[in-house]
Amino acid sequence: MKNKLVIIGMPGSGKTTIGKLVAEKTGKSFIDLDEFIVEWTKKTIPQLFEKGEDHFREIETRACMEIAKRKDLIVSTGGGVIKKPINIELLGDNGVIVFLDRPVDLIMADIIVQSRPLLKEGKEKLLALYEERYELYKKYADEIIANDRIIEEVCTDIIGIMN
Ligand code: S3P
Repeated sequence: MKNKLVIIGMPGSGKTTIGKLVAEKTGKSFIDLDEFIVEWTKKTIPQLFEKGEDHFREIETRACMEIAKRKDLIVSTGGGVIKKPINIELLGDNGVIVFLDRPVDLIMADIIVQSRPLLKEGKEKLLALYEERYELYKKYADEIIANDRIIEEVCTDIIGIMN
């Protein structure tokens, strides 16, 4: 039986907010992959990107290796985790992968661009990433959950997958 629920999706799609809520409601532990990386490396995400995206992606994969060993967790991932199939192999081995699918216009309406290095170029960049990644999120997902409605409904659907 799978022992983790792993949330993938675009930056700003609500992965962390919803992951935390689902963890609270189910009494499971919660890990946000980016926060895990920050604690682990003692560096911020923008600082890690200063050495290039490849450097960040290597650390991200090492973090996936660590998280893969753990059980009974809700994990929210960074939006680019799908860029390396090894990450999905690691997280999906004992985890159900849920794509949190939030329409790009809703993401654009409320995304905080500043703290996300890849989005510094603004909304055009977000749209380009969305177009580049959407099919990958769908391909890697065991389940697709729409996040264009009240948060409680989204959580209920995710908890339904876990039961
Ligand atoms: C990234 C998304 C970020 C973070 C990093 C790279 C991406 O996480 O991992 O800035 O490539 O989309 P969020 O999806 O939580 O913003």
